[in-house]
Amino acid sequence: MSAIKIDGKAYAERLRGHVAQAVKALPAQPGLAVVLVGEDPASQVYVRSKAKFTVETGMRSIEHKLPADISEDALVSLVRDLNADPEVDGILVQLPLPKGLNSDRVIEEIHPDKDVDGLTEASAGRLSLGKKGLRPCTPTGCVMLAKDTLGDLSGKHCVVLGRSILVGKPAALLFLEQNCTVTIAHSRTKDLASVCREADILVPAVGRPQMVQAEWIKPGACVIDVGINRVPSQRFEGKTRLVGDVDYKPARDVAGSITPVPGGVGPMTIACLLRNTVIAACHRRG
Ligand code: GUN
Repeated sequence: MSAIKIDGKAYAERLRGHVAQAVKALPAQPGLAVVLVGEDPASQVYVRSKAKFTVETGMRSIEHKLPADISEDALVSLVRDLNADPEVDGILVQLPLPKGLNSDRVIEEIHPDKDVDGLTEASAGRLSLGKKGLRPCTPTGCVMLAKDTLGDLSGKHCVVLGRSILVGKPAALLFLEQNCTVTIAHSRTKDLASVCREADILVPAVGRPQMVQAEWIKPGACVIDVGINRVPSQRFEGKTRLVGDVDYKPARDVAGSITPVPGGVGPMTIACLLRNTVIAACHRRG
């Protein structure tokens, strides 16, 4: 039997609709500042997309495009200016930064109340302590899709594959917040396949194309594939295509529900970023 396809694109569209409604009800238009350093093509695509949806949901998009050879001090100074700017509700510094720039230092300069990416130590601390705060976007999107598919997640065994700061670690904490039993599996985990096979909810987030095989999936499990990997196309020479961390086609015959790539978790990240910007605006201007 084929798994239910979890339509992240449609869910993200609905979420952006809710964001647009919330924006209309606010006394002032929220502003999202996005800082892009250098010319990384993937980052340029993401930033364009963020700006487009920011404007579409009725908010102001403030873009700062800077050369790759900008000094770290100049970048820090820009972030400080954005912190002080009353028209800016959210600040996002697109990662990765070019070589030579210390992203930890730059991110840490973002005021926690404007940290719509949820990446500062303050935001991570709030999440791990179970306090209110801005949560990282991709992991939030994963939880939303799992809840939309399964309903109450309480007591379910969630296996997060990967321990990155951007996704794996915060995803584990967010599923824990939903009363899941959480396992974090990673490259040093012994017998990864059998650990993954224990999962009611499997969240691969390792950035390895099609690593998770159908045999790693418990029959009927919900699979939330975070991987977005560009690989050479098998059909068109010289072209590329996007695949997840899961070998999708065979996995569909085992899983109960599964996110496609593209069109699964990806669109949720930006929708959650816009949601965070509204939350930050309400909190600051409330
Ligand atoms: N680069 C890839 N994903 C992200 C993200 O979620 N936030 C930021 N700031 N940079 C990214």
